[in-house]
Formats: sequence, C-alpha cells, structure tokens
Amino acid sequence: GKPVVTIIGSLNVDLVSRTPRMPSAGETITASSFDIGFGGKGANQAVAAARLSRSRDHSNATVDVKMMGVLGDDAFSDGFMESLQKDGLDTSEIRKIEGKTGTAVIIVEEDSGENRILISPGANGTIGPSNAFLEPDSTASTNLKSPVDVAVFQLEIPFEAVKQQIVTARRSGATVILNPAPAVPLPGEMLADVDHLIMNESEAAILSGYEKEVKSDEDLNTVAAFFLDKKVEVVIITLGGEGCFYHTTQRVTNGQKDGVRIPPRKTKVVDTTAAGDTFVGAYAVMVAEFALERRIELAKEHGEKETPQQLIEEAIRFAVRASSRTVEKEGAQSSIPWLDEVPE
Ligand code: RIB
Ligand code: NA
Repeated sequence: GKPVVTIIGSLNVDLVSRTPRMPSAGETITASSFDIGFGGKGANQAVAAARLSRSRDHSNATVDVKMMGVLGDDAFSDGFMESLQKDGLDTSEIRKIEGKTGTAVIIVEEDSGENRILISPGANGTIGPSNAFLEPDSTASTNLKSPVDVAVFQLEIPFEAVKQQIVTARRSGATVILNPAPAVPLPGEMLADVDHLIMNESEAAILSGYEKEVKSDEDLNTVAAFFLDKKVEVVIITLGGEGCFYHTTQRVTNGQKDGVRIPPRKTKVVDTTAAGDTFVGAYAVMVAEFALERRIELAKEHGEKETPQQLIEEAIRFAVRASSRTVEKEGAQSSIPWLDEVPE
C-alpha cells in the first residue's frame, strides 16, 4: 500500500476578524471583515498533507493521509467532517463527543497580515494518554493497530497525550515529526523520540530557553545545536518572510558545524494563518514519499554514500513554496493550496 501519514492533533473552528489595527485595552473598533472557517493546527496540517499529495479529484494520491482528533457535537462538527473528506482525508478516526468543538478567535492585522490567536480547546482538551489514538495491536507488541509511516504532532491537544503517543509511534518504527506549537518548554527525553522538529523562531527560543531573539546565523546555529544535542535528527526553524533554516545530526557527523539557510519565495502577504501548518503538512508528505528515515539509516551504514541531505533540502524547498501560497489567501484551511497551485 501507500505510505500512511497520520496527524494526531487539534481541530478548531476559526472565528476570524480582519482589522486595520488592533484595539487597545478598553477600546472598541469595527472590523473590516469577519469569517468563520475550519482550522486547528492538527487539521490544517492534515489538510495540507492531503491536498499536496493528490489531484483535486483525489486521483494519483502518493500517500494516505489520516486525521486523528476529537470534535464536539455542535453546529460545526458535521460540516467540518465533510470538508475534510472533500480534501481526500481519512476521517475514520475522528471522534465526536458531547460538548464544544475547539475554537480559535483570530484577529488579523490588515497591513502586515499578521495574526493574534486565542484558542479554547473544547473537545481537543479531552484527549489524554488513556483515550489517545495510536495503540499497539496487543500488549506485547510494538506494532500499531492501524500502521503509520509518518506520525505528525503539534501541542494543541494535552501535552501528556502527545508525549505518550510520540513514544508509541516511535516504538512502532514510525517517523515522528513534531511541530511544538503553541510552544511550551519540553522535557529533553521527549525530544529524543522526535526525528524531525519543525518550529518558528519564537518557538525555537522558548523551547531552548534562548534569552535573545533568534535571528542571526549565530542565534540559529546555537539554538539548533541545543536540539541536536537532545537527539533530534533534523531541526527546522521557519523564519516567516525570511525563509527558513535547517540543521541535521548528519551534517554534524560530516563535520559541517553550521546549518543551512533556505531563501523565501517572495509573495504578497494577505494572512499568514496556517502558513506554518502548510509547511509541516508539505514536509510530512515529502518525508513519506522519500522514505527518508530509511535512507538516513542507509547513509549511516554506508558511510553516507547516499545523500539524504539533498532530499531533506528538497522537502524543505517544497514546503517553503507551498506555504508561500497559504499567506496569499485569507483564513486557515481556506488558504491551503492543492498540489497544482504550488509554484515551481
Ligand atoms: O496555525 C493556525 C491555527 O492555529 C488556526 O487555524 C487556529 O485554529 C489555531 O489553532
Ligand atoms: Na492564510
């Protein structure tokens, strides 16, 4: 069968207002527009992975994409499910519970396209280690009931569930991608089970306890070294309009002390919401398509005759191009491109 990319995480209904400027404390101003759309970092990444791995009629899919998460039983949940199915996602492991679907109140500043987000977890908050999704097929086994090649996590569902599911995924042999957003300091042993860590510059600072802004090459290399020390295989720091930066254990082994900057694609920024999520979804698809983990292993065994570095870079460049489209449109899932919309 095709490689399976499974996203374990949040589904939110986004309430998005655009404004010429942020209101100050105690002030009321009128928004320029308001929209309700589907979002949540987990669901956005799943949508990105699905749209970027098949054509719009769902033919020619290169990977199967499955979303695992929880919706409420309110007015939004049926429409949310339908929308995900239209994108070609496997929704068979999205649960519905009594209560509210997660929501995100998002204010977008018109000039810069930058957002401020306030989330209420709702149903997302009910996931814990005991009712989480990935399960071994018997008590003695590391194999999963439903096998996963690439498992993708964020931090919009309870931390304890993420921690436990990362361990379960890793034990089964799946490649683990973590997008630690929103950022909280992570225990070092949790990072040891993460193969690919993808975050933005402010998350990188919070997670590594870096006291300055992460901006210069020196900042980036210092912060990346922190994560590589914790046994992360590939560290990617997205830099908004500045493109991104990556560093890998393999480069260090090869004696390449510093990481690499990847330039941005120039775009007109309308709304940055879900740009990071598009990056993660796009990258996950490439990791699955390239069977990247297997190749990293091979490269190690063969004294790096194969060059997964090139593949990692190819995956990152694809993710940069895909997410550059997301910032050109309003909203979260409404702005994520299909494969045929990704520029060359
Ligand atoms: O990353 C963007 C997402 O963050 C939005 O869709 C919103 O739901 C928040 O979770
Ligand atoms: Na957007």
